[in-house]
Amino acid sequence: MADLLGQLEALAAAARTACAAAGDEKALEELRVRFLGKKGELSAVLRGMGALSAEERPRVGEVANRVRDEVEALLGARKAALGEAALEAELAGQPIDVTLAGRRPLPRGHRHPLTRAAEEIAGIFARLGYEVASGPEIELDWYNFEALNIPADHPARDMQDTFYVDPSTLREGRAKGGVLLRTHTSPVQIRAMQRIGEPPIRIICPGRVYRSDYDQTHSPMFHQVEGLCVDTKITFADLKGTLAAFARAYFGPGTKTRFRPSYFPFVEPGAEVDVSCSICGGSGRKDGRRCGTCKETGWLEVLGAGMVHPKVLRNGGIDPTRHTGFAFGMGVERLAMLKYGIDDLRLFFDNDLRFLEQF
Ligand code: FA5
Repeated sequence: MADLLGQLEALAAAARTACAAAGDEKALEELRVRFLGKKGELSAVLRGMGALSAEERPRVGEVANRVRDEVEALLGARKAALGEAALEAELAGQPIDVTLAGRRPLPRGHRHPLTRAAEEIAGIFARLGYEVASGPEIELDWYNFEALNIPADHPARDMQDTFYVDPSTLREGRAKGGVLLRTHTSPVQIRAMQRIGEPPIRIICPGRVYRSDYDQTHSPMFHQVEGLCVDTKITFADLKGTLAAFARAYFGPGTKTRFRPSYFPFVEPGAEVDVSCSICGGSGRKDGRRCGTCKETGWLEVLGAGMVHPKVLRNGGIDPTRHTGFAFGMGVERLAMLKYGIDDLRLFFDNDLRFLEQF
């Protein structure tokens, strides 16, 4: 036993001298391996403990622990001292010349055209008294479909090819009723009614939505702006006036709007809204030729809208015998494409600076 205790003391003494002499972190790491590593000196001494009696072993163990703690502390202290010395040296060395003129490594960037379009749309509705609301992109089936009067077996679900979340990846209990990537911003209608409670409610919700689509005018991730207005005596005339004001503000003062009957399960009556073509001024012809943007019709389809269905109001906690409302939903990519004359929506997502720098 005395032999082992002697070896431990010698190890501690050697570590003290070596640590004090170590000049950098690399040397300290070598010392750590030499003294404390798996094949290091301390392990070698401990291997000798097997030959000790049951009474001797705890005593040697205790000293070994003390020596290990001391070597660790020596290594740590030396590392801190070296770090401090390095900092002192740096501070005492060459100062930074703050008078040197700045250089710009890259030209300054700007907001993405889709961000600008969404902000412009939100700004127009803010001036009409709407507040911005938001909701989750990973949504419950109930908010995205059921509460909007689209039950599980309803054919209207086919119009929005949906990405479902694998229930096995969700925490227990969460999968009940289904979880998906929202296919439109309309679930925020329900969330806003539930949150705000008593009308008047006037919200818009810009945000990302997802569908299994991919071509020149459809992408799997795109943006919509939802609008919802609920109060007493809200009529279709309010909806028409609001969207006509929006179209003039976004596309220009001479812009006309046209409402065509359409079907969305969460509104009744429902409409698709067209604006007069911003490229040919609604004439269908540009510079004596057929206008390609509106395909010579003079009109461009920009959004879906309608009077909120009584069932939807009820699901949002609103009494449809006391209140009425209208809602609308527009595609931001589509509005940006029409405004800037872009013919392929995928350009927005290619991150090609030659495209982005034009805005
Ligand atoms: C809806 O999503 C309804 N929630 C809109 C609505 C709201 C109607 C409130 C009534 C009341 P729709 O599926 O038509 O409707 O989509 C709305 C707009 O999103 C379309 O006009 C189009 O501009 C845009 N859009 C749809 N799918 C894509 C896609 N894959 N890529 C880019 N834009 C798309």
